[in-house]
Amino acid sequence: MAQKTLLKGRVLSFNGSPFESEPTEAVTISEAALIEDGRISAVGEADSLISANRDAEVVNHGQHVIMAGFVDAHVHYPQTAMIASWGKRLIDWLNTYTFPEEMKFGNPDYAAEIANRYLDLTASHGTTTMCSFCTIHPESVDAFFTAAQQRRQRVVAGKTCMDRNAPEGLRDTPQTAYDQSQALLEKWHGVDRISYAITPRFSPTSTPEQLEAMGALWAEHPHCLMQTHLSEQTDEISWVRELFPDARDYLDTYEKFGLLGSHGVYGHVIHLESRERDRLREVDASLIHCPTSNTFIGSGLFDMDGLMGEGHRVGLATDTGGGSSFSMLHTMASAYEIGQLRGSPLHAAQLLWLGTVGSARTLRMDDCIGNVAPGMEADLVVLDLASTPAIAQREACADDLWEAIFPTIMMGDDRAIAEVWIAGRRVSS
Ligand code: GUN
Ligand code: ZN
Repeated sequence: MAQKTLLKGRVLSFNGSPFESEPTEAVTISEAALIEDGRISAVGEADSLISANRDAEVVNHGQHVIMAGFVDAHVHYPQTAMIASWGKRLIDWLNTYTFPEEMKFGNPDYAAEIANRYLDLTASHGTTTMCSFCTIHPESVDAFFTAAQQRRQRVVAGKTCMDRNAPEGLRDTPQTAYDQSQALLEKWHGVDRISYAITPRFSPTSTPEQLEAMGALWAEHPHCLMQTHLSEQTDEISWVRELFPDARDYLDTYEKFGLLGSHGVYGHVIHLESRERDRLREVDASLIHCPTSNTFIGSGLFDMDGLMGEGHRVGLATDTGGGSSFSMLHTMASAYEIGQLRGSPLHAAQLLWLGTVGSARTLRMDDCIGNVAPGMEADLVVLDLASTPAIAQREACADDLWEAIFPTIMMGDDRAIAEVWIAGRRVSS
């Protein structure tokens, strides 16, 4: 008989988008969630679920909040060891810190060590799914997927392709990028909970020939995601203009090579022009907000209000290691602060939605992850809303659930993560 576990606590589910209604109305709080065969089989009243499932192991989390595990829609797992590197802006930061570190991933042992370290760190912070860039080395993709497969995690990743403006040893060619990406895609895509994303790093590090090859590969595999960077820093945008003098704008450097589509996942998207916004909306592409990275590297303030108002598909991400944290709670806090700087504070329900359902939608996975509902995969996080003395004293005088949750969003870290479940199994955190 299937093993059943009943988690009792304050089970937080979304019944809609908190950007489309009064934020709190998009949330349902239930007493318990039943896990069976790696999935949520029921959510509801504790007593009736217990009497209907006498064979279930009951885990009582008291006042803790039980919700979907966090979904981090844009990360670079190979940048784990160089997170929080000081004092550079995007292009200098890549050349000084990122490329030398990424060079090491041709060594499969090093790649495996960092992949496992990254997945340990993120699990302890409550992140259960992420969409990661790897390095140009196929070994870096194999290492990440192997580590995720052992943990039964739903992940997306791809070989980062670059054939110019990167050091010797970190460049492929249009042909090898195509061949290696295709081989990795065929090896991994759809295996267990693994998905492959076609991954040109960004226009400055790919020749038109390489972008064209990536576009051709995507056209052959349109159900795969394609991830890249778009419009992150103004210096980067000027450089793109020099490198692609015929392009109408930055997005056009992707669009003209078949790299714009509904399954496109574009990181940062801060300084968009109106044509770019319109085209991204028309094709229903995914836009990823990376707030700690955008402040850490000094990139700018994402226009959440405007883009949501236009109906864009938006997710939330750490952008490790341009981002300065592995924590999606910290990332939500940063998104809140950027909202404040732009004059529109996000509600706690909107922040939690962005880090779960919102990101799952951008990865086209909201049918299986990102929410607590019957049929969803049982990737869960249990939040302790009084995890430190500073948070506890604020939570103690909260008038309602939202006032109780917000201090954990603003001040919480891995200590707020009481428990993590991946595919229906408890992970030690
Ligand atoms: N643009 C191209 N590569 C990168 C990267 O690794 N990090 C960030 N933040 N932006 C990029
Ligand atoms: Zn990135």
